[in-house]
Amino acid sequence: MAEQNPFLSGPYAPVEQEITAFDLPVTGTLPRELSGCYLRNGPNPMGLEDPGYRWGEGHWFLGAGMVHGVRLRDGRAEWYRNRWVRSRRVAAALNEKWPGGPVHDDADFAANTHIIRHAGRLLATVEAGPLPYQLTDELETVGAFDFGGKLPGGYAAHTKLDRRTGELHAIAYYWPWDYVQHVVADAGGQVIRTANIDVPDGPMMHDFALTDRYVVLFDLPVTFSMDAVSAGRKLPYTWNPAHQPRVGLLPRAGGPDSVRWFEVEPCWVFHTLNAYDDGDRVVVDLVRYAGPYDVSALEGKGPLTLDRWSIDPESGAVRQQSLDDRAQEFPRVDDRIVSQPHRYGYSAAISVVSRDTVSLNGDFADGAFANALLKHDLTAGTAEAHEFGRDATAGEAVFAPASATAGEDDGYVLAFIHNPERGAADLVLLAAQDFTAEPVARVHLPARIPLGFHGSWLPDQ
Ligand SMILES: [Fe+2]
Repeated sequence: MAEQNPFLSGPYAPVEQEITAFDLPVTGTLPRELSGCYLRNGPNPMGLEDPGYRWGEGHWFLGAGMVHGVRLRDGRAEWYRNRWVRSRRVAAALNEKWPGGPVHDDADFAANTHIIRHAGRLLATVEAGPLPYQLTDELETVGAFDFGGKLPGGYAAHTKLDRRTGELHAIAYYWPWDYVQHVVADAGGQVIRTANIDVPDGPMMHDFALTDRYVVLFDLPVTFSMDAVSAGRKLPYTWNPAHQPRVGLLPRAGGPDSVRWFEVEPCWVFHTLNAYDDGDRVVVDLVRYAGPYDVSALEGKGPLTLDRWSIDPESGAVRQQSLDDRAQEFPRVDDRIVSQPHRYGYSAAISVVSRDTVSLNGDFADGAFANALLKHDLTAGTAEAHEFGRDATAGEAVFAPASATAGEDDGYVLAFIHNPERGAADLVLLAAQDFTAEPVARVHLPARIPLGFHGSWLPDQ
């Protein structure tokens, strides 16, 4: 019997339909000040026959992107929509004409990792070669987008927007390159600068960080390996003990030779919470898997913790401190303060997700999910957990400020939470300053939402 693929079952199981639903039922009271859309991207393979998904047995990271969105206005939840991103293959599977657009090196893919808005464009993003796809406000695909033709290669899943300058930073990587590429787009959505930074071995660089002065790069020992695929691994990236782990500081406007590298202990970092300059030092808060990490199995050998790295560019010292020992992922700050000092952070408590935690019929063991969101007060050194109960799988949470001028943490924490009683997802809104209280509102959505990746709160402008 074929081995059960955990990423096609349980809370990961893809949905099969695109839905449009209006005037959604709400328990509690939706804050009238929240007017905008909450959008979240994630993999949603088009079934077992999806040839792209079958490649490498189907890894969570390889499913076609589907964006789920809820529109809030005047204290109402106006609509819910879910839409596949139309790559050429997705469009063909749906018997539709591909909307078209540029393609980088034949690496067309339905971007599945993040959804952002920049220069008035809604962009679904993914890393490792393909271009982003632009969507309409109703989540229909406009087409692939290459920043006005000025993007030299593919783009990145994670970006950092400096709201004071309007500059959108990204680090693109692609397996045939012997460099990673720093890409800066201006407030108008044009690529205004790129810098190719030489790195050996083709490392995976999923995320990075930004401060006033620096782009912070994580050159860690998960590197490209076609042999890994030949050997039956799901992804062509594998732990490479010969690759020196290091963190790099690239001056924001610096040329490729101005990056300085500092050695760190072997570890893996998918995500940073935020970073900022602290005098001469650079402070980065991140979620770190200590020791070797296997991206095909999504398993680490060491603990997963929220850490603070303090980098001293003069001495080259990188001081590491654990901020929270609970296993967690998807760390987020208030998007308005990316690259500036932060006090608060939000994350999802998780446990190890792997075949070890999944039985052959697709049920997840009790330990597979912690079903909680965490709020960190990094000044007080405290954290609170909002528990959702058994089977209420909780993914990434994003912060929505109560108004454009509200202070940090003055607002709401939004996340899609599976509601096991209904067998469908709720959009849950927690008051950030009363984090453990009952949710302010639960918007009851008409369908499940598979566990996915990243999203954005996009207030009306
Ligand atoms: Fe990510």
